[in-house]
Amino acid sequence: MTTLEDFIKGIPKAELHLHIEGTLEPELMFKIARRNNIEIKYRSVEELKKAYDFNNLQDFLDIYYEGTGVLIEEQDYYDMTWAYLEKAHSQNVLHAEIFFDPQAHTDRGIEFQTVVKGIHNALQDGQNKLGISTKLIMCFLRHLDEEAAMKTLEQALNHKDLITAVGLDSSEVGNPPSKFQRVFERAGEEGFLTVAHAGEEGPAEYVWEALDLLKVSRVDHGNHSLDDEKLVQELVSRKMPLTVCPLSNLKLKVVNDLNNHPLRKMLEKGLLITINSDDPAYFGGYVNENYLAISDALDLSKEEIVKLARNSFTASFLIEKTKQQMIEKVDKYSHMQIG
Ligand code: HPA
Ligand code: ZN
Repeated sequence: MTTLEDFIKGIPKAELHLHIEGTLEPELMFKIARRNNIEIKYRSVEELKKAYDFNNLQDFLDIYYEGTGVLIEEQDYYDMTWAYLEKAHSQNVLHAEIFFDPQAHTDRGIEFQTVVKGIHNALQDGQNKLGISTKLIMCFLRHLDEEAAMKTLEQALNHKDLITAVGLDSSEVGNPPSKFQRVFERAGEEGFLTVAHAGEEGPAEYVWEALDLLKVSRVDHGNHSLDDEKLVQELVSRKMPLTVCPLSNLKLKVVNDLNNHPLRKMLEKGLLITINSDDPAYFGGYVNENYLAISDALDLSKEEIVKLARNSFTASFLIEKTKQQMIEKVDKYSHMQIG
């Protein structure tokens, strides 16, 4: 017998929408800034945390890019990634597919390979010491131009073995997926899978573009898909996963209240929904806090929690056999009685 809360905390799960730069906790940010002799414009952790009050995506992105400015050495990328893996492991995350934003670093003069090596070394230790499996997804910053994205893709070709997919993030409205059609075409030719943030603040039309032009295997966020019933039917028939991020949606005012979050409606329509933390250091919770908050707000049942955890593996880029092994772990766990 256990409580639904403990059931949620313990259920085996995957995380599929997680920006590694968004896991940089204020304490670690200050520590890294100090050793790199970088001045942070906030005097203390408390003062910095007070700035985490966002009205929209752009408000957040301004602070998020400022935060990435402390990352200079390979060790900095290692430490940030390792801290996330330990946290994820403690929350029974068996598998994580992790975004990184190379342009947020290379545009400040950091070498592409410093970033990739630091992150990758931590991921390897995550597998060896914690038994957590991971994949890496390289995102293009959509507020920058096509040429910059193409250059970034070319840099990634030297590290093809370490990067599974490419994605698209940053300021959505005014930067539609179509802007990057040729970059994603090239990425596909080079063997990368593709995903894209779409329908977070942008319209359903951007989700159509992500599907039809960028040939994505998953839609990140996708909230605005619900504005277009034909699109919903298309997503359902393609079994296209949406990586939903409840606390992010609340903090960035994509929803005004978690009680009004569309997640239950999404499940009822038959969409393949997963729960994720997006930028946990900024949005007040890692993956378990996201499950707990949305479950509380929408009064999710044990069966719905099990479905979400199963979906997280189904929607992953793991090979079929490993997927099934992990789903079996969820199913075994799900026999536990709630009381
Ligand atoms: N949306 C878009 N870009 C981002 C996000 C997000 O939630 N997090 C980090 N970059
Ligand atoms: Zn995101």
